[in-house]
Amino acid sequence: MRILVVGGNGTIGKRICEALKEEHEVIIASRNSGDVQVDITDSASIKTMFQSIYTVDAIVSVAGEAKWASFSELSEEDYYIGIRSKLMGQVNLARMGLDYLSDGGSITLTTGILADHPVLKTSSAAMVNGAIHSFVKASALEIKHARINAVSLGMVEDAYEKYHYYFPGHNTVPNKRVVNAFLKSILGAETGSIIIDYP
Ligand SMILES: NC(=O)c1ccc[n+]([C@@H]2O[C@H](COP(=O)([O-])OP(=O)(O)OC[C@H]3O[C@@H](n4cnc5c(N)ncnc54)[C@H](OP(=O)(O)O)[C@@H]3O)[C@@H](O)[C@H]2O)c1
Repeated sequence: MRILVVGGNGTIGKRICEALKEEHEVIIASRNSGDVQVDITDSASIKTMFQSIYTVDAIVSVAGEAKWASFSELSEEDYYIGIRSKLMGQVNLARMGLDYLSDGGSITLTTGILADHPVLKTSSAAMVNGAIHSFVKASALEIKHARINAVSLGMVEDAYEKYHYYFPGHNTVPNKRVVNAFLKSILGAETGSIIIDYP
């Protein structure tokens, strides 16, 4: 399969790409590295990326940001960071990517545990994760020639140092399980699913 991984050099993305490269052609996209450059907050940039890579069999997004701050500190503009990046960035990847996806192909978006079990400072990050879950379930009802799922993980093993302060008492998702959650969406048959691993 020919697989586009947006954010494929990130913490989670690099684990997925390592595994996929054993059997598939992987195209990595991000703003600052990879095979092709894209900024998912800019739909013109998404269009240029798809025009340069032509058809793929799977689109995987492990990119997108949201502002983490106390509820009292988050401004309206702060919420739009997550809306433009993690939410509409991924929604637009799915919307626009459909035209470049082979029949029977798949779209995999990334959310996270905050959608169901938020922690402090995540009003914005949790909100966009939940919105993507609803988008995936609803859009799958109408997308006929392809599958669409979201992978929602707890704190991953490789991100423990960065995030453990925010997630007291949480266990991490081992790398093998991180990869398997994505393989289930990319290589399996599910659609409209939120593939969850909260250890
Ligand atoms: N880490 C965890 O424990 C965990 C758990 C559950 C869910 N998640 C979610 O999973 C996703 C990935 O997490 P991560 O820890 O792997 O993050 P990461 O290490 O920061 O990697 C994110 C990747 O996305 C790219 N990216 C960011 N913004 C982009 C944009 N606007 N356009 C194109 N590419 C962009 C970055 O590359 P460039 O800077 O080159 O663009 C980078 O390669 C995030 O949405 C995160 O919320 C993470």
